Amino acid sequence: MATKTKEAPKKAAAATNTGRVVQVIGPVLDVEFEPEQLPELYNALVVELEGRRVVVEVQQHIGRNQIRAVAMSPTDGVVRGMSAIDTGQPITVPVGKPALGRILNVVGEPVDEGAPIPPDAERWPIHREPPKFVDLEPKTQVFETGIKVIDLIAPFVKGGKIGLFGGAGVGKTVVIQVWSSAKRAFSTTSP
Ligand SMILES: Nc1ncnc2c1ncn2[C@@H]1O[C@H](COP(=O)(O)OP(=O)(O)O)[C@@H](O)[C@H]1O
Ligand SMILES: [Mg+2]
Repeated sequence: MATKTKEAPKKAAAATNTGRVVQVIGPVLDVEFEPEQLPELYNALVVELEGRRVVVEVQQHIGRNQIRAVAMSPTDGVVRGMSAIDTGQPITVPVGKPALGRILNVVGEPVDEGAPIPPDAERWPIHREPPKFVDLEPKTQVFETGIKVIDLIAPFVKGGKIGLFGGAGVGKTVVIQVWSSAKRAFSTTSP
């Protein structure tokens, strides 16, 4: 995986920059662009399929005017020759009030069967500098889930990140679902 070296100063993307899929291996797509038109690392590209869109994220510049990208959803139906449109920026997710208490997938779409997020909601790229240390909230506050065993044994911290690891079928999805319905009952939101 490549690392990004600079904050992306966005070139005023004139016309949309469209590439052509040249190889699909599982979730990995190689896309060829015009010379000098390669999307930047971590940019999101969109492949439009019938009825759905596959978002892929640029990981490498691999030469021959090609980039290698990893898909955020299944690539079934994506074939060589399809167009991949450079969005000119990384994947973005809604932030602020409209995102509070919502469950979003990796490309920022709500998956909690709640109301759609307004299209004019503020969105931030998922790749950005971390907040400065001085800007961090020094107080540690517990983010109550409403699930007693979590709040007691492994409390979540507001503003923190949580991972859920476990074998298939052990109950990860069910825990999220219970949390989601507990949230509706107690309307807890993260700051
Ligand atoms: N605490 C639990 N007690 C009993 N059955 C459970 C529990 N948690 C999950 N299950 C059952 O186990 C199955 C798999 O759970 P799921 O959350 O889908 O697993 P995962 O997402 O970790 O693969 C489901 O059929 C669910 O009903
Ligand atoms: Mg699951």
